[in-house]
Amino acid sequence: MQQFKIEQMEQKHIDTILQIEELCYGAHHWSKESFLTELNNKISSYKCVIYENKCVGYIGFWKIIDEAHITNLSVHPDFQNKKLAQSLLLNMIEECYKEKIKFITLEVRVSNKKAISLYEKFGFKSLGIRKNYYQDNNESAFIMWSENIFDKKYKELYDRIKENLINYGNNNDK
Ligand SMILES: CC(C)(COP(=O)(O)OP(=O)(O)OC[C@H]1O[C@@H](n2cnc3c(N)ncnc32)[C@H](O)[C@@H]1OP(=O)(O)O)[C@@H](O)C(=O)NCCC(=O)NCCS
Repeated sequence: MQQFKIEQMEQKHIDTILQIEELCYGAHHWSKESFLTELNNKISSYKCVIYENKCVGYIGFWKIIDEAHITNLSVHPDFQNKKLAQSLLLNMIEECYKEKIKFITLEVRVSNKKAISLYEKFGFKSLGIRKNYYQDNNESAFIMWSENIFDKKYKELYDRIKENLINYGNNNDK
């Protein structure tokens, strides 16, 4: 994990990000304008995971009072299953702790088993459904929520995931 670092998303990352978007979502992905707008949105926070000076994954979320709404989480297919999404989620939750944000929510396609299992690992539960939410194929979305991340039980889960990631990083650096 030493070779990966997480930094603020900037305009210079966007061309690479658009390539990842296409690989992850096909034709129906965010446009350059959407990312540029988000980078100037005062309630947004966007981070990239960097490998050899290139963005290989990213997360974005909106901060609305004491809630965070995840808008995007994507990892380049060549870099998936290396726990980069988990590192991005941990980084985001750390920011929520610093900014006293208590709850995290997101929408995910009902067919996206991998992402759903990733969010469940982080203690998120599906508490609702938005019917025909995605315009490309009318697929519905699960609305997932964390519990209050300041609860002792959630903090223990967060610490456990963080420890596992540190151990994973140490083992992969040997
Ligand atoms: C979903 C996504 C962000 C995950 O990124 P990643 O870096 O590969 O994820 P990580 O390696 O950190 O974690 C993967 C976890 O997903 C789960 N997982 C992996 N493969 C899975 C599969 N085939 N089925 C179900 N769950 C799976 C496991 O819980 C795994 O954790 P583990 O390795 O500790 O067991 C990535 O696959 C992606 O960019 N997909 C396309 C875009 C997308 O769907 N984004 C989510 C939008 S809501």
